[in-house]
Amino acid sequence: MQPLTTQHLVTTGPKPIPDPGLHVAIISDGNGRWATSRGLPRSAGHRAGAESARKVIQAAPRLGIHTLTLFALSSANWKRPPAEVNAILRLLHEYLLIETSHCIEEGIRLNVIGRRDRIPATLRQAIADSEAATVNGRRLHLRLAIDYSAREAMYHAACRFYKVTELSPESFSNVLAEVLRGGSMEVDLLIRTGGEQRLSDFLLWECAFAEFVFLPKRWPDFSVADLESALQEFARRERTRGALPDAIAG
Ligand code: FPP
Repeated sequence: MQPLTTQHLVTTGPKPIPDPGLHVAIISDGNGRWATSRGLPRSAGHRAGAESARKVIQAAPRLGIHTLTLFALSSANWKRPPAEVNAILRLLHEYLLIETSHCIEEGIRLNVIGRRDRIPATLRQAIADSEAATVNGRRLHLRLAIDYSAREAMYHAACRFYKVTELSPESFSNVLAEVLRGGSMEVDLLIRTGGEQRLSDFLLWECAFAEFVFLPKRWPDFSVADLESALQEFARRERTRGALPDAIAG
């Protein structure tokens, strides 16, 4: 079997932007603790987190990031009090309404990965409108993971896979991309803020060869300078994908 490469995993769904820039995925954790430590409601932490997301999205293209996937709401987050989940959903809706025209101007194509059957119909419509309006963006592919579970997406892809005649890792990726509706691209760098060091059901298939950077900083305190540092750390790492490092291979 051929080793999987980024090229293999750039699959169906929205057409990939033809440039092999970096795919950075971010688990933006720590909003709640940021707010609580300031005596604020958790929803204030999510609002501050949305501001961090805006800054990072704006800076991403000039930093060589070509695809940016942000974990905005995990399927496991439905276990939180409804008021908090609703506040996050409202924030995401607001983000789409305000930022879609900005995305068009900035050449950002926006897609949402995750389930759409449990979110409010108004948000579902805003996602569809935003995706349609930004489809020609070529500078950055921004993917927001909303009601997303990697395990569930892989399970649904596996259920569909039996219908596929060409059985290969690439065709599985294609099916997964269809399930996600926002592509299934290999992650180069995964950043998690907030101090925890786990994947939390995020992009399990796509992170097979990702480099991880875990930061104690809470997401609302994450700055563009932190993103630049993480990218510098990434650049220092040698990615062998199971082969020998260059120094040993000669
Ligand atoms: C993690 O903090 C964050 C979330 C569960 C979701 C909210 C994410 C954002 C608002 C950022 C992305 C936003 C946009 C608009 C793209 P947490 O609540 O788990 O924090 P904690 O671990 O301190 O409790």
